[in-house]
Amino acid sequence: MKQKIYVIIPAAGSGERLGADLPKQYLPLGGKPVLRHVLDKFADFETAVAISPDHQDLYEQAATGLEKARKITGGKSRKESIYNALQSFLKVNDNDLILIHDAARPFVRRDEIEAVIDQAQDSGAATLASPLAATLYDAATDETVDRTEKWAIQTPQVFRAGLIKEAHEKFKEDDSFTDDAGLVRALGHEVALVKSGRHNFKITTMQDYDMAKTLIQADKQTITTMGYDIHAFAEPKEDGGDHVTLGGIQIPHHKSLSGHSDADVILHALTDAILGAIGQGDIGTHFPPSDDQWKGADSAIFVKHALKLLEEAGGQLIHIDINLQCQAPKIAPHRETMIQNLSALTGLPPSSIGLKATTLEGLGALGREEGIAAYVNATIQL
Ligand code: CTP
Ligand code: MG
Repeated sequence: MKQKIYVIIPAAGSGERLGADLPKQYLPLGGKPVLRHVLDKFADFETAVAISPDHQDLYEQAATGLEKARKITGGKSRKESIYNALQSFLKVNDNDLILIHDAARPFVRRDEIEAVIDQAQDSGAATLASPLAATLYDAATDETVDRTEKWAIQTPQVFRAGLIKEAHEKFKEDDSFTDDAGLVRALGHEVALVKSGRHNFKITTMQDYDMAKTLIQADKQTITTMGYDIHAFAEPKEDGGDHVTLGGIQIPHHKSLSGHSDADVILHALTDAILGAIGQGDIGTHFPPSDDQWKGADSAIFVKHALKLLEEAGGQLIHIDINLQCQAPKIAPHRETMIQNLSALTGLPPSSIGLKATTLEGLGALGREEGIAAYVNATIQL
């Protein structure tokens, strides 16, 4: 019969050595909790997550939408948490595999997870490990320790279920073990080493957390997109207008702009710039001009929708630069209000919003005050 694979994530620690306000597995890393990075990598497996009863809400937030992860109550030590998780798998056969991975190791790679599972399928027990790179000094003997054959043991560790259960039962009262490979070796069973690298470090101290944030950031791609929109002033006979809406604010003017919704060219161009980052078409794809419900609508709705889609795709808006082509009305007196409003709408600080307006020196249609246009460049991190 094919071996099934079950996953245990010990996540019931309090992160004392790191000393943050939150336990380290719930700290944010690149827009999601550390634990979520780990859970996402094992989303296809039936997973027991050992958590502290004090962290229920934090866990529920971190694990939203994951169908195969279920929480169980952790213990006083990592070993006890894993013992409890082992008891919670009711249908496990001795020949199935149990994979154990620390909640605080978010950088494990999928190919490494596969490699350690493959190895355990052959030999019954395997762990990821990284060959020691540092020069190791033993202060007790005043000697440099020969580092050949020295390994830093990591997780995932994968074992035949019968084996790991036997080891945990046998050494239930022994608190000297710091990992499960140690328990299995104490039973007399060899644990194969599968070579990994130092990237799979466990976040233990604040320095580790800072390093993790730097690594996540380096992985991100920054792109610049653009959006453009133009609206014409309404025909004088149909126009009782007394303002134009630009950047979400109303600016007094003797003519108004006609077109989709409130005809805010800045917010429309901004919406398109955001949608452009995630291959989500343009504003008309989401809010067809033919649909009457958008007539006169506040264009902030469109920007908020685009930002929500961006967030769902794991992206973040970090800067916008707006060029407004506008012969009249004068923009300068309204610039600050407009920037404040754009800041509230996008969550960007005012210093990350560029807003320039140019007249057209009377040239062309825009120069003849037939309409207003806006270019928006958006810088986005994915
Ligand atoms: N762990 C657990 N149950 C415990 C203690 C630890 O499930 N009673 C988990 C941690 O949440 C972590 C992993 O075991 O994912 C490795 O432990 P460690 O790095 O020591 O985490 P903490 O115990 O949280 O940190 P500290 O020792 O600094 O308090
Ligand atoms: Mg600990």
